[in-house]
Amino acid sequence: MNVVITGGLGVLGLECARAFLQTGAQVVLADIKENIDLLQPLFLEHEPRLKFIQCDVKRHDDCSRLVHLSESFFKGAIQVYLVNAGTPFAGEFLTATQEQIQNVLDVNVLGSIYCAQTAIPSLLQNPKSHLIFTCSLQSTMARANRSIYTTSKHAIAGLVKSLSLEFARKGLRVNGIAPAAIETPFLFSAFEATQMTKEEGLKIAAESLPLGRIPTAQEFAQTALFLTSTGASSITGQLISLDAGASAGVFPRQAL
Ligand SMILES: NC(=O)c1ccc[n+]([C@@H]2O[C@H](COP(=O)([O-])OP(=O)(O)OC[C@H]3O[C@@H](n4cnc5c(N)ncnc54)[C@H](O)[C@@H]3O)[C@@H](O)[C@H]2O)c1
Repeated sequence: MNVVITGGLGVLGLECARAFLQTGAQVVLADIKENIDLLQPLFLEHEPRLKFIQCDVKRHDDCSRLVHLSESFFKGAIQVYLVNAGTPFAGEFLTATQEQIQNVLDVNVLGSIYCAQTAIPSLLQNPKSHLIFTCSLQSTMARANRSIYTTSKHAIAGLVKSLSLEFARKGLRVNGIAPAAIETPFLFSAFEATQMTKEEGLKIAAESLPLGRIPTAQEFAQTALFLTSTGASSITGQLISLDAGASAGVFPRQAL
C-alpha cells in the first residue's frame, strides 16, 4: 500500500505512519516542520519504505509537489491519503484576530481542499483507494470558545460527505475520523489558552467523557487502518467518532 500522511511529524501522523509501516506499506510523511530527528526511530526500522517531504498544505503548489514526489518515491500512484495536518485555536470569538482566523481557515479548510484536489487524480489510478480526513468532535458538535476551529472542522465534514458522493463510482472511499481529545501538543495548546496545566486539563477532559478516559493515538491509527481494510468496504462518507461516547448525547455525571 502507498500511503501519504500530512501533519506527519505530529503525534497522530507519526502513530499512523508506524501502524501502516508495520503492515508493509510504503509511507510518505509530509509536514510544514522539518524536524526529521523525530523520524530517526522509524527510519532505523523502515528506511527504504519511508520518506519525509516538507510541505505547507496552505500552498496549492506545495500540495501538488507532494503528490508528484510521492508518486516518484512509490514508483506508482497513491492508494491511501490521510489529510491530517491541522492547527488549533481556542479563544473567544470576539477577540480572535483577523490573522488567527485566516490561519485556521487556511490550514484546516483550504489545506484540506488543496490536499484532496491534488491527490485525487493519483488515488483514482487505483481501482480501490482511500481518502481519510482527520476531523474532530468539533466536526459535528459545537463548543464555546472554539468557534473558529469548530467552523473549520465542520467544513471538513462537508468535504468528506460531498467527495464521497462525487467519487463513489470511481472506487475512492472518503471518510473522516473524529476524535474528541487525544494527548498531543495540539490538545495542550487548548489547555494553555485556558491557563490549565497539562495534568488538570487531561483530568478534566477524561472526566467529561462518558467512558471516563480520552482516546489514544494508537486507537486513532488503528481506526485509520480499519478504514482501509476490506471489512470497511461499504463505509464511505462517514465520520467515525473516536470520542469515548461524547457525541452520543448529554452525559450528566450526576443523574438529574
Ligand atoms: N489532539 C487532539 O486532541 C485532536 C482532537 C481532534 C482532532 N485533532 C486533529 O488531529 C490532527 C493532528 O493533530 P495532532 O493531535 O497530531 O497534533 P500535532 O500538533 O502533534 O500535529 C499537527 C501537525 O500538523 C502540522 N501542520 C500544521 N500546519 C501545517 C501546514 N500548514 N502544513 C503542513 N503541516 C502542518 C504540524 O507541524 C504538526 O506536526 C489535526 O488535524 C487536529 O485538528 C486532534
